[in-house]
Amino acid sequence: MSDTIRIPSRDVIIACDFPGRDETLTFLDRFHGEKPFVKIGMELFYACGPEIVREIHDRGHRIFLDLKLHDIPNTVSRAMSVLRDLGADMVNLHAAGTSPMMKAAIEGLTRPDGTRPLLIAVTQLTSTSQETMEEDLMIHAPIQDVVLHYALRARDAGLDGVVCSPLEAASVHETCGRSFLTVTPGVRFAGGDVGDQKRVTTPERAREIGSDLIVMGRPITADPDPVGAWKRAREAFLGT
Ligand code: C5P
Repeated sequence: MSDTIRIPSRDVIIACDFPGRDETLTFLDRFHGEKPFVKIGMELFYACGPEIVREIHDRGHRIFLDLKLHDIPNTVSRAMSVLRDLGADMVNLHAAGTSPMMKAAIEGLTRPDGTRPLLIAVTQLTSTSQETMEEDLMIHAPIQDVVLHYALRARDAGLDGVVCSPLEAASVHETCGRSFLTVTPGVRFAGGDVGDQKRVTTPERAREIGSDLIVMGRPITADPDPVGAWKRAREAFLGT
């Protein structure tokens, strides 16, 4: 990993899955001067455009821009060169776009001074089962092996880490090295509502397994006291 990349310390990222700017800024205003690390996904980005990234960055938040790019190398490279200057600390793509696309993404993301946001890869979506992977994608290897293979290809292309299930974080670190980032959604408080997530774990367990950054949306955004929920998540995950 290059020394021009700023590696984030372990933290909780709040998934700001809101339909628009007003809902998002009203939510962030509740933190009164505290600046949680936030994730901006497709819904908010497509609703508000790049300006929402700049605006949240200018308010002092670190940002994971979760747009999961997947296209031919030239297109992804050019798109990344647009995203690199919005103020995001981390962006992502689909490893299924293959090594030439991942390498082109890094080229596009790298600024003239050599710095760039972190770049991580989605391996297999956590919504994909062994069965659908075999039937729809004609991939017949065990899904765990596919995840680790994609993680290795991402590492070898020069990426900084992967999005994966917290339950996969230990094996990704074993295969790709401890400094290869694992960013893990699918985290719930003990006894909390699981919603549509399939393979979930708690912030405490994610810490034990070795996740570097956990992504939590609804357990924080839908809580009547989101600031309290965020603090609880951080205490549990950081062990403080
Ligand atoms: O509300 P919840 O905690 O389930 O939010 C999880 C967030 O992480 C959502 O924004 C979801 O899109 C994202 N995500 C995920 N699983 C993946 C990749 C991203 O849940 N494999």
